[in-house]
Amino acid sequence: MAHINQIDPFDFIIFGATGDLTMRKLLPAFLRRFHAQDFQEDARIICVARSAHSPDQYREQVRNALSEFAPTAARDADTLNKFLALVQYVSLDATKEGSDWSGLEEHLNDPQRTRVFYLATSPALYAPLCAALADHSLITPITRVVLEKPIGVSMETAAEINDGVGRFFPEESIYRIDHYLGKEGVQNILALRFANPALEKLWSSDAIAHVQITAAETVGVGKRGPYYDESGALRDMVQNHLLQVLCMVAMDAPASLQADDLRNEKLKVLNALRPMTPDMVRHNVIRGQYTAGRIDGQDVPSYAEDLGQDRASNTETFVAIRTKIRSARWGNTPFYLRTGKRLAAKTTEIVLQFRPQMWPIFTNTPSPGRLVIRIAPDEGLSLVLATKDPSAGGFRVRNGVLDMSYENQFTIEYHDSYERLLLDAVRGNPALFIRRDEVEASWRWIEPILNSWRHALSPLEPYPAGSWGPASTRALLARDGALWHEDMLT
Ligand code: BG6
Repeated sequence: MAHINQIDPFDFIIFGATGDLTMRKLLPAFLRRFHAQDFQEDARIICVARSAHSPDQYREQVRNALSEFAPTAARDADTLNKFLALVQYVSLDATKEGSDWSGLEEHLNDPQRTRVFYLATSPALYAPLCAALADHSLITPITRVVLEKPIGVSMETAAEINDGVGRFFPEESIYRIDHYLGKEGVQNILALRFANPALEKLWSSDAIAHVQITAAETVGVGKRGPYYDESGALRDMVQNHLLQVLCMVAMDAPASLQADDLRNEKLKVLNALRPMTPDMVRHNVIRGQYTAGRIDGQDVPSYAEDLGQDRASNTETFVAIRTKIRSARWGNTPFYLRTGKRLAAKTTEIVLQFRPQMWPIFTNTPSPGRLVIRIAPDEGLSLVLATKDPSAGGFRVRNGVLDMSYENQFTIEYHDSYERLLLDAVRGNPALFIRRDEVEASWRWIEPILNSWRHALSPLEPYPAGSWGPASTRALLARDGALWHEDMLT
C-alpha cells in the first residue's frame, strides 16, 4: 500500500560518508523514514568518502552504526536488508586533481531524478566540492545542495563559502541546514504563536518581562575536541541554533509559511539585534570553560583533560548573553541566551517570564507567572499561573502549573530533526533551511563578540562540570531583577 507522503525516486549523495554525522544522524534518519514508507526501494543513497572500502564493507559499517543509533523498531531484518541494498558506496577523493569520478558518474546516470548532494565535510571543502561537481557535469537544473553548519567561522569566511557555492548553485537550490529548525518543539513555536491569537496578544514587552533561551548539555566535547577547540560554544551553538530559536520566538507573523516569508521575518529580527560594542560585550557576555566535576553521580574530567593536550585552551565551552531587540514589540524586554557543555542537565527550553501585577491586591502575591516551551527532553509546554490556594483560612494566592507534554497529548513517537529536514531537502521544501542573508546577519552580530574576546576583554571563567556555568551568570540576570529558570524552581 502506498504511503500517503511518499516521494518520487531520488538520488541522495552524501560526501563525508564515513563521518560521525552520517553514521549517527543521516543514515539512521533515512532508515526511519524508509521504515515508515516515506520512500521506496527505487531511491538511492550514494555515500562518498576517501576510504577504500568496497560497497559491502561499507554496508557492514552502516549496519553496525544503525544497530547502535537507529531505534530497534525501525530495523527489523527485512527493512534493514532492503535499506542497505539502496545504500551505495563510492570511494573518491573528490577535491584531488585527477581522481577517478567514473564510479559516481555511473550511479548518477538519470538527470531526470531528484538529485541532492549533502556535504557533511569540512566547510572549507564546500566550494571546491561544488566546483568539482560542476566540472564533472553532475549538477542538473533540479539538483540541490545541502550544507551542514558551521558556514564559516566569521562573516568573511561565511561570505567566501556562500560565494563559492553560489557560483555553481542558485540560492534557491542551496539548503543550509540547522537541525534545531527540524525539532518539533522549535516548529511548534510557530503554531503556538500564530494559531493562538490570544497568546500572540501577550507576545511583546507589554506583558513579557524577559525571555531566556537555554541549550544546556551534560556531555563534554567527546571525540570532537579538535573541531570544538577551534570553534567554541559561541560559533558552535549561538551563531546558528540559538539565534534561529530567538528568531522564531521574536519574529512578527510571516505572511505565509512559504520559505521566503518566514526567512524575511527572521532576518528582520537578526538585523534588529542591538549591535555589541566592546563595552557591551564586557558587561553582557559571559564566557566559561568547565573544570572537573560530577554529573549524574559520576566524576567527569575538565575540558583540558577531555582535549588530552598539555597546553591550556582559551576556548569557551559556555556562553551566556544578554541582549535586546530594537523593535516596537520587544524594545523593553531583555533576551538571555545561554549554552554550555557539561552543565547540570540536558535541557533545551525557552522561558517567557510575565510581568508582575501593576497594583498587587493580594498580600502574598507569588512570583509572576511564566510560559515554558520545552524543546528537549520531553517536548511540551508549561504555563505557570497564580491561583487561589485552596487550603483553609484566609485568601492566599500561589503558583500552579498547567503542563502539556506532547508525547502524552498526541501519543506518537517523536522524529529526529534530521528525518524531517532530509526529506524536506528531497521534496524541495526550503522553509526550514537558512538563507544566505540570515547566515551573514548572524555573523555580523556575533563578530564583535569574537573580536572583543580576541582582545582579551572578557575573562574565561571556570565552572565546575555539573553546575549551571560560571557564578557571574546569575549576576547577568540579577541586575534586571531576574532569575534563571532553575533558580525560580528552588
Ligand atoms: C550541534 C553542535 O550542532 O548541536 C554540538 O555542534 C551540540 O556541539 C549539538 O552537541 C546539540 O544538539 P542537540 O540536538 O542535542 O541539542
